[in-house]
Amino acid sequence: MARTILVTAALPYASGEIHLGNLLEMVQTDIWVRYQRLAGADCAFVCATDAHGTPTMLRAREEGVEPADYAESCRAAHLRDFEAFGIRFDNYYTTHSPENRQLVERIYGRLKERGHIRTRTIQQAYDEQAGMFLPDRYVRGECPSCGAADQYGDSCSACGATYTPSELANPRSILSGLPPVTRQSEHKFFKLGEFESPLKTWMRASNLDRGARNKLAEWFKEGLKDWDITRDEPYFGFEVPGEKGKYFYVWLDAPVGYMASFMNLCGAGKDGEDRFERYFGADSNTELYHFIGKDILYFHTLFWPAVLMGAGIRAPTGVFVHGFLTVNGQKMSKSRGTFITAADYAGAGLDPEHLRYYYAAKLGPGLDDIDLQLEDFAARINSDLVGKLVNIASRCASFIERGFKGQLGPALHDPALYEEFASAREGIGQFYESRQYGKAMRAIMALADRANVWINERKPWELARNPEKQDELQAVATQGINLFRVLMTYMAPVLPRISSDAEKFLRARLSWESIGAPLLSERIEKFKPLAGRMAVKKLKVLVEAGRGEAGAPEQVEPIEIDEFLRAELRVARITKAERVAGADRLLRLTLDDGGKGRTVFAGIAGAYAPSILVGRKVVLVANLKPRKMRFGVSEGMILAAGEGDSRVFLLSPDEGAEPGMRVR
Ligand code: 2FM
Ligand code: ZN
Repeated sequence: MARTILVTAALPYASGEIHLGNLLEMVQTDIWVRYQRLAGADCAFVCATDAHGTPTMLRAREEGVEPADYAESCRAAHLRDFEAFGIRFDNYYTTHSPENRQLVERIYGRLKERGHIRTRTIQQAYDEQAGMFLPDRYVRGECPSCGAADQYGDSCSACGATYTPSELANPRSILSGLPPVTRQSEHKFFKLGEFESPLKTWMRASNLDRGARNKLAEWFKEGLKDWDITRDEPYFGFEVPGEKGKYFYVWLDAPVGYMASFMNLCGAGKDGEDRFERYFGADSNTELYHFIGKDILYFHTLFWPAVLMGAGIRAPTGVFVHGFLTVNGQKMSKSRGTFITAADYAGAGLDPEHLRYYYAAKLGPGLDDIDLQLEDFAARINSDLVGKLVNIASRCASFIERGFKGQLGPALHDPALYEEFASAREGIGQFYESRQYGKAMRAIMALADRANVWINERKPWELARNPEKQDELQAVATQGINLFRVLMTYMAPVLPRISSDAEKFLRARLSWESIGAPLLSERIEKFKPLAGRMAVKKLKVLVEAGRGEAGAPEQVEPIEIDEFLRAELRVARITKAERVAGADRLLRLTLDDGGKGRTVFAGIAGAYAPSILVGRKVVLVANLKPRKMRFGVSEGMILAAGEGDSRVFLLSPDEGAEPGMRVR
């Protein structure tokens, strides 16, 4: 019986832009799904935008729109980006949906009924000016372990220590810039510890890679702690029934969003309900797989299965975990130009299919990071995809076209070779199934090499000059086209656009079964190039676009020191930052300058969200004549490096400098 499978990829946060890292996961998942379908499984693929949480709420506030509307516009933008890369979801929904609310309430209700929830009062950082509790990352201060300045409330980027916001020295809220106070609040906790034994059983039975298992074993050893699943208002999420002003934590409703997206796909009505039940009923025999990055393993292999077990819902069959994407060996970074968005990539005129191939060539089943080396990327596309694979078709098609009016011959020249290509199907299928895509690509390219060597040895260009060898020429070219067809079928999960063009060229559908018999005596279309070479120049454009144009310093005219000293530079602290309606680039900044304060308009909105600026110290040109602008008067200027709209870096003094201090 055909397998029935539901596959998900991690839900991207609404507030983020889709980048090459998100695409790595989506491409990995999409390839797997396409392979399953090609191999005859009934395989559905759902995803959604992860709409809830504090960042979405604050971003929407900055934009002056409702969080639900903001999340919806992000959803549409995400979907556009993914579709451009050939990602084919059955549903790309949102966690802010009626289905998700219903499911979260149902699951929470069951957990409560069955005694898996307890109430506890906790102490938490609270921003009195912003009127809200602060997530750990919204508090910054000095690391309690190494003293590094300006660290997040949960971990130190300098020494790696982890701690709670209350342990930071000189903590400040990133919203108001003020030191937070500690307040009490009552929260609901999920008793994760109760699930240790069923989780261990689940782990042994489920499809988890060794690296993920090792990580889980460590966590079991450390002991499983209660999980705080509520947040206080203001919060963008679902209110907890019966608990006024309390919301479900985004990480509780996000994975439920997988189910909600599928429920939405099933549709309302009896048939839809039955289908949903078939997948999620406690004794479902369908398969459920989640593709995720290694940073969210805890959520997917402990919290999520335990929540499902607690609520009497089937647990995942497997969780497939990948590593991080690095670019040229480095973490993606805006200043190095390696933070590349999906839109940057497409905008540079690069082919999404090239990226899919490169990712496939690098992907294995484990947690290792994947490095996108730009030069290597271009080299592989040009040598493998264009030089080996597509070349087979382009060199044989012209003979069929010119000599035989597009008609393939009635027989192959070397049926045994065809058989060999066709029988690679099992092995390559197994590589896809086990997510060893790199091995699959190598096996396919090795066959492509053999096909090219075989054609070289038959020298069709010489046969073409000999009127007596026309049958042989047709058989050789027919063989080449058929080898190409087999290889293109193997590549179809990775290269959906190219394989669909290949289908048009061959006037035949590519499928795992049809490999069994060669395509003979059929007419094929005129060959059009299926994949272009990749110009390294375009890749450079991409990195430069990410980095802006810092370039070499220009020749500048020297000035005397007293000319420079006429500018009075002072330290100031940003106490308020707001967007300016009608001026996308501008922020209106209220500054504490050590005196009576002032307002400055700065063209930094493309690089900084207002919420992260509050509390930050900057350098102010304090004696600049006030400038009247369309939106008000700017009383000075703050210093920043960079150029353009998004490559802007504010200059800030070291810790200890106070507003009003003279900069010399
Ligand atoms: O880490 C993230 O990007 C989350 N938005 C992933 C959520 S996956 C799932 F649980 F919903
Ligand atoms: Zn530290």
